[in-house]
Amino acid sequence: MNADRTSDSVARIDELRREIAHHDHRYHVLDAPEIADDVYDELVQELRALEAEHPDLVTPTSPTQRVGGVASAGLETVPHVAAMLSLDSSADPVAFQQFDARLRKALGDEGVRYSLEPKLDGLSIELVYEQGQLARAVTRGDGRRGEVVTANVRTIAGLPERLSDATEAVPALVAVRGEVFLALDAFDDVNEALLAVGKAPFANPRNAAAGTIRQLDPALAASRPLALYAYDLLEPDGGGGEMPFQTHGEVLAGLAAWGLPVNPEHAWASDADEAWSVFERFAARRDTLPYEIDGVVVKLDALAARRALGSTAHHPRWAYAIKFPPRKEVSQVLRIVTSVGRTGAVTPVALLRPVSIGGVTVSRANLHNREDIERKDIREGDMVRVERAGDVIPQVVERVEVAGERGAPFRMPDRCPSCDSVLEPRGPYTVCPNAFDCPAQRIGRLVHFASRRGLDIDGLGERTARQLVERGLVTQLPQLFELEPAELETLDGFAEVSARNLHHALQRARRTELAQLLYGLGIPEVGAAVAQTLAQRFGTLAGLRAASVEALEAVDGVGPVMARAIHGFLHEPRNAEVLDALEARIETLPIEVVEPEAQPLAGVTIVFTGALERFTRDQARSLVERLGAKAAASVSKRTHLVVAGSDAGSKLAKATELGIEVVDEEGFLAYLEDLGIDSGELTGDVA
Ligand code: IVH
Repeated sequence: MNADRTSDSVARIDELRREIAHHDHRYHVLDAPEIADDVYDELVQELRALEAEHPDLVTPTSPTQRVGGVASAGLETVPHVAAMLSLDSSADPVAFQQFDARLRKALGDEGVRYSLEPKLDGLSIELVYEQGQLARAVTRGDGRRGEVVTANVRTIAGLPERLSDATEAVPALVAVRGEVFLALDAFDDVNEALLAVGKAPFANPRNAAAGTIRQLDPALAASRPLALYAYDLLEPDGGGGEMPFQTHGEVLAGLAAWGLPVNPEHAWASDADEAWSVFERFAARRDTLPYEIDGVVVKLDALAARRALGSTAHHPRWAYAIKFPPRKEVSQVLRIVTSVGRTGAVTPVALLRPVSIGGVTVSRANLHNREDIERKDIREGDMVRVERAGDVIPQVVERVEVAGERGAPFRMPDRCPSCDSVLEPRGPYTVCPNAFDCPAQRIGRLVHFASRRGLDIDGLGERTARQLVERGLVTQLPQLFELEPAELETLDGFAEVSARNLHHALQRARRTELAQLLYGLGIPEVGAAVAQTLAQRFGTLAGLRAASVEALEAVDGVGPVMARAIHGFLHEPRNAEVLDALEARIETLPIEVVEPEAQPLAGVTIVFTGALERFTRDQARSLVERLGAKAAASVSKRTHLVVAGSDAGSKLAKATELGIEVVDEEGFLAYLEDLGIDSGELTGDVA
């Protein structure tokens, strides 16, 4: 190969990767794409072609090598049963009164009754049930055609695969419109998990939901607990559907009777004033709902009147969204400081010129880690877009370009701002290694322990935790339970009653759910969901502490890295002391232990390559995963078995080179049979 051409290719590959990363960020994180999907696809295709020419230039971080979370170039599109229109909307009370006046003029006062529902900030979805069976789920797309995302939608808990006709007959074709969203808790977990592996977090729950639904890996979707509320039954364009209901109220009751999740938050109003006060009630509760909403949707109840009013090309004339003020504002970064969390990670925090975002004054925003701040290139003095989602900490989403000189690039400190230890880089993070004695880490651990999903100790927030640590009253978690009301009363901001209340809350927390205790301990990699599975599997803290790495790895959702991290944490001598002391002070409520399924392939890593005949590669993968094996995408020293179909290429070569056992499809079935697994049954099972 000509050297010039190679160096041209190197440069172009580099450029393409940077461009694609930029557009991924615009699309998935900011939800503000700059180019059309097909233009994006062309960039990826060009990169693929160049990488095929220069396999030595393929890196694991190339966008072509990712499986999950990728833009959905590969999703099929289909026409909607009924066009998915948008909503007429505004935040202006006068505009809403005009909407109401138009309806009254057309229908008379008698005909107007409004249903009011939270406007969920997720993405709309069309669910099509044929003969009661879920046939497909389609995104909004351009409103006429959308992308088929059925596999991902099937991972939504509580969404029926079959509609129930127990109390309400189900028409042959049912097309339902609803919203897919991610609750705020789940959003926090998703971002925590992304940050843990050095990936950019999502700016808000909606982007996280959209990014999850529109990617090709249902396993990734399953790991992110999406939710759905159904809010409309569609009349197919061009007729053909039966509409068994007369009013929207009946529709909502019918959807619920069929087993679909319907938002319990709902109200009625008979005129514009009443509707406006309902809107204000929702606005006041906005921050207390477990999911993000961006307004209230007002819909006419009578379906016949809706038909009479019809739609514009953009929106139906019978519905109106009253919007809340946006949660995004631009402000200036006055300073960038760092704070140390419970894990020792040093987080850059932007101190902002105070700005009101959705009714809350924001003066600090999170910049996550060294790589995040470098990627966004945020410096002191910059103008930035800040976003706040529910009660989640505000984030700096991006820099807003303004003309003029900029400050110097931000540099992470060399020493811990809390204990002065020399900091260490760890992946995208900068970490204080002084885990046990760093005051900031101690404070962070107390706050996490007491947090809502931990032991849920009222009155033990950041301010109190800081005083307890700084005055030497608490250095380790178990000491919390030894605090006397008289000691608590000496803390700033405490008096006799508040001290007694905190003491009471602490004593009450000594009886807790195991999952809450496990979450509160802040075990690396253990968020609320994993804490719950571990609790169900091991029943007690003692049970978990006795588990081997292998036993941990056999738990659903726990991989080898996580298993080692959990085991390492539990057996670290100083942690073990703390755990002994906690076991002596805390009683966990009994929980029914779920025995693991038999997993004859636990600990085995298998790679499938080439074309198989009896099953698709995906089927083969999920089959061995059910048996406890890990199905890896590439061959490495840690691979135990390679199953090579016809046309197997580089993976087969690599396996031979590394001396790894290779079998063909027949050999694979024989391998399963040796383990006592009936392959006939299995292939039948997955077909
Ligand atoms: S009704 C044709 N109800 O808001 C009108 N929409 O900005 C059907 N949305 O695309 C929509 N919550 O994704 C309706 N309770 C709710 C909603 C809702 C959220 C979304 C929907 C729509 C967008 C319009």
